[in-house]
Amino acid sequence: MQTQVVIIGGGPAGLLLSQMLHLRGVDSIVLELRSRTYVLQRIRAGFLEWGSVEILREAGVGERLDREGFFHDGSMIVWAGARQCLIDTRKYAGRQMVAYGQTNITEDLYAVRDAMGGTIIDEALDVAPHAVDTDRPWVSFVKDGLEQRIDCDFIAGCDGSYGVSRKAIPAAVLRTYEKVYPFGWLGIMSETPPLEDIIYANHPRGFALASQRNPRLSRYYIQCDRDTDIADWPDDRFWPELKARFPRSIADEITTGPSIEKSIAPLRSFVAEPMSYGRLYLAGDAAHIVPPTGAKGLNLAISDVYYLSRALSSFYNDSDIAGLESYSQTALKRVWGAVRISWYLTNLLHRFPNQGEFDLRMQENELEYLAKSEAAMRNLAEQYIGMPL
Ligand code: APR
Ligand code: PHB
Repeated sequence: MQTQVVIIGGGPAGLLLSQMLHLRGVDSIVLELRSRTYVLQRIRAGFLEWGSVEILREAGVGERLDREGFFHDGSMIVWAGARQCLIDTRKYAGRQMVAYGQTNITEDLYAVRDAMGGTIIDEALDVAPHAVDTDRPWVSFVKDGLEQRIDCDFIAGCDGSYGVSRKAIPAAVLRTYEKVYPFGWLGIMSETPPLEDIIYANHPRGFALASQRNPRLSRYYIQCDRDTDIADWPDDRFWPELKARFPRSIADEITTGPSIEKSIAPLRSFVAEPMSYGRLYLAGDAAHIVPPTGAKGLNLAISDVYYLSRALSSFYNDSDIAGLESYSQTALKRVWGAVRISWYLTNLLHRFPNQGEFDLRMQENELEYLAKSEAAMRNLAEQYIGMPL
């Protein structure tokens, strides 16, 4: 087989890239390890920056998002029993955030790629990039027991944190940065009406978050130990623990019900530099991971794809290689900003092991500062809504 760009990974980054390239007249083939059913059942993030909404609209997948997304002027932070402040992105940054699940985005992208005749090969095993430091890279894989080969001009590594693409960058070139946080998030999805707002809680029992996917689907998280066994958290233990971490007035508003999904995610930050090597370009989780606090992961995958699709389009349509040459540098600037704000919010909102009285006072003072200073809140809101592309 032959194509212009082979995209390894059919998550949001890979699917969106193939769609944006298609709209600019560039051909691609997506190779996805898992079955489509598996990819569409995976529950992930779901809170979009305004810039991401605009990119998805431009890519032709804005219709359901505009219809079913939950538009928010901001998100609430609560602490010390009754204190609260709103990260008012509408007031301070002029734009809203939108709750719309990654699962829906993935569904929308599959639908539009199918409608436009896109090639997405699922259950592609043993995918391997080759000759990435030459002008004629190629990718091998096994489908239905048969070894296949695709020759291409470029390879886009959109295969998430545990994919194969990043490993194709020689160890001597690749530099990685990692921070592991000493806790995880235990998350549940339940078919109950969510709270009106997205609410982050800083509480002595640990962080909690009330979020949502649609008017009938709630998403809640509580901070947990990294080694927590999910079997120890039946629903009748989860709900009282969640409610205990919110002020009484908010807890009373939470509608409980059976969970339809429950999972634990350890928190970490990870960045790989550079994001390109030869004719291989990384995008999304393949290059970086942020802790979920602030919901930057999916938004970063979308902004990487925005830069990469434009760079590839300039190469093909205008014979201009400047965008490809600067892709890693451009994307990384935004990545590090998101890594920092996720780290800041993680530090601000969680209880850490061995956190002393001094550290707690620092957290509380920072929260009070956000509540009373417009300048401080403007600064947070600007980053929470996402820096301009
Ligand atoms: N070969 C082919 N596909 C692979 C391989 C492989 N060796 N390894 C992984 N994949 C696939 C995965 O099955 C997955 O569908 O690559 C895809 C990567 O998708 P994501 O992990 O969703 O990553 P990305 O598209 O970058 O999206 C980032 O995902 O983890 C969340 O919070 C993150 O919301 C953000 C988003
Ligand atoms: C989510 O709904 O999954 C979510 C929302 C906001 C965050 C993190 C995760 O900051």
